[in-house]
Amino acid sequence: MTTPPPSADWLARWRETNSDIARLSFTHRMADAVIDEQRGRDIRIGDQWLADFASCNYLGFDLDQEILDAIPEYLAKWGSHPSWSRIIASPVLYEQIEEQLAELCGTEDALTLPTITHIHFSVLPVLAAGGTVFLDSRSHKTLFDGATAAKATGADVKTIGHNNLDRLQARLEAGDWKRPGVIALDGVNSMTGNLPDLVEYARLAREHDAILYVDDAHGFGVIGERDPDELSPYGTRGNAIVRHLGESYDNVVLIGALSKAYSSLMAFLAVPTELKTLLKSTAPPYVYSGPSPVASLATVLEGLRVNRERGDEIRKVLHDRTKRILDTIDELSLDAVNDSGLPIIQVPLADPDRVSEVGDMLFERGLYVTMCPYPIVPRREAGFRIQVTAANGEEHIDRLVSALHELQDLFRRRDDPQALAHPKRFARTTPRRPTDRARSRVIPPR
Ligand SMILES: Cc1ncc(COP(=O)(O)O)c(C=O)c1O
Repeated sequence: MTTPPPSADWLARWRETNSDIARLSFTHRMADAVIDEQRGRDIRIGDQWLADFASCNYLGFDLDQEILDAIPEYLAKWGSHPSWSRIIASPVLYEQIEEQLAELCGTEDALTLPTITHIHFSVLPVLAAGGTVFLDSRSHKTLFDGATAAKATGADVKTIGHNNLDRLQARLEAGDWKRPGVIALDGVNSMTGNLPDLVEYARLAREHDAILYVDDAHGFGVIGERDPDELSPYGTRGNAIVRHLGESYDNVVLIGALSKAYSSLMAFLAVPTELKTLLKSTAPPYVYSGPSPVASLATVLEGLRVNRERGDEIRKVLHDRTKRILDTIDELSLDAVNDSGLPIIQVPLADPDRVSEVGDMLFERGLYVTMCPYPIVPRREAGFRIQVTAANGEEHIDRLVSALHELQDLFRRRDDPQALAHPKRFARTTPRRPTDRARSRVIPPR
């Protein structure tokens, strides 16, 4: 028996009051897909096999046989799910993960919670403590939600234009804000793949005795500390943006995802032990929420081991595959949002209204990417986003490169007057603001 559709009246009323959201309903096959089957990074939707370029499993740990083989032993020991809330009890696996994360990131301690959403919602209000959150305008939606939660507990929220350090400095210097202050922003930006000028943000935070709260969901596992012997410009160890840029953790709280590069339902904060202890009683998810499943705990621990043993080699593969795509974009003189060389590549369309059509064309060519229509992204960036993982084979890159060639007239070119105003990838040779520290880009300027 099928359920009858609901009476149309309330839905029609909802549609009227939410016309902007209703407009977002997807008209192409490149969203909200049901995957019928998966073989490596190939997915089948209906009868179409596609190369998946929409996954955030950057290191391919979701498919790594060594990691997969290790999981059953953890399940045998711990069952499928520890359903204590963390404040009641946690398997020792948590202690091991937190110790290893702290060691990897170079912080005194680390605290894990199931998701970054939980972290922002619960930790931002604690850190803001009724003071002021200075929020970068292109922060991830969950950071906005966290700021809203901070507001509900008495904090002011001041949104600052994306990467607008001058504006942030002016607001901080005006001094007319409630303390304590938290400056919140993405590390590697989830939409653009670019890095903020974290060195300068950290300097401002320290100068004004504020906390710099950095969500590096996409940087953790991908970029890390620089080393003269590094195998790729992503650096070594994948220990995230703060270490990548050679910054210290003074006044800095780093948030990392394990749900992206580490393919697990888990996230963490790299923090001093004193703050971790405080958060155990003040961050509601530690007290009230369920924990991550054992398979995720196992994947994180095994992933950390694989990262130590061959993480840099995996990152080299990731870098090389990404570079082939970015080189094609350069060769074709296409406009692109990414100026970092990282595996999040947003390609704007010449006509921002053709997102659905282009989605269908890519689908037909066996490519699954993330479509980015306006208003999810600014209109001048409307197009699609390619996310590369180390598990995307050369054949996937070949297929993508030939689609970029074939469909190039649909994409915006660099010489188009509408082309993005920011300096192009590799081209920023001088810092935007004077600083006495050398700016360490993911990929040094050519
Ligand atoms: C920058 C950023 N922060 C937070 C999140 C949300 O992470 P979680 O799924 O752990 O809540 C995402 C997810 O895509 C993200 O890209």
